[in-house]
Amino acid sequence: MLCNADMNDWLIETIHLTKIYGSGETAIRALDNVNLTVAPGEFVAIMGPSGCGKSTLLNMLGALDQPTSGEVWVAGENLARLKDVDGFRTSTVGFVFQLHNLLPTLTAVENVEAPMQGRVASARRRRERAMHLLGVVGLASRANHLPNQLSGGQRQRIAIARALANNPKLVLADEPTGALDSQNGDEILALLGELNRSEGATIAVVTHDRRVAQSTQRILRM
Ligand SMILES: Nc1ncnc2c1ncn2[C@@H]1O[C@H](COP(=O)(O)OP(=O)(O)OP(=O)(O)O)[C@@H](O)[C@H]1O
Ligand SMILES: [Mg+2]
Repeated sequence: MLCNADMNDWLIETIHLTKIYGSGETAIRALDNVNLTVAPGEFVAIMGPSGCGKSTLLNMLGALDQPTSGEVWVAGENLARLKDVDGFRTSTVGFVFQLHNLLPTLTAVENVEAPMQGRVASARRRRERAMHLLGVVGLASRANHLPNQLSGGQRQRIAIARALANNPKLVLADEPTGALDSQNGDEILALLGELNRSEGATIAVVTHDRRVAQSTQRILRM
């Protein structure tokens, strides 16, 4: 049993987290009674076979989907009781997906600015922050390029810059290196590690790559 004081010490806590997709004979139990804690500032890898529920877990942690039962706490908030779910998704969490899903008609810098719309009032401030983040991921010189004018690894770095736009407490990355060759994948992971140290963000990364996982502080096996 955990008391309330303990809850606030974790950046992530799941309590008896269960997710069942569908119902009746076709029901799939994607998460079964998962109890997980991650400390603030931790960099953890989530590993496990295909279909074991890694993406489902990440979706729950980022309030992209709702549990069937159990609780998810992130940064002191019970996600079932969020008053501003959109605000949570854009400010507290940053997402990086396997396929970067940048907006194809926006330039690199505009993609990084997008999550700041409505959060950072001044366009100049948004531009400054976006340019700073492009510098952090080593792509300031590509600010005005469209996604299809960039390499896969560069797009993924833009996606990471975008995930950091609102200075999130938690970065959730679902196989961010999955679409990259091993050298680019290594660079993305090194970058996440650096951001974990420099920005203090807690990072949870799903990966199939054992080497990637070993570069993190802790491996969670599902
Ligand atoms: N929207 C959905 N509707 C029904 N079943 C789903 C849905 N999403 C996922 N599932 C099922 O839930 C289980 C967990 O899926 P999930 O995508 O979380 O796995 P994963 O560990 O991320 O796998 P992978 O490594 O292949 O990405 C799988 O059996 C999958 O078929
Ligand atoms: Mg997955």
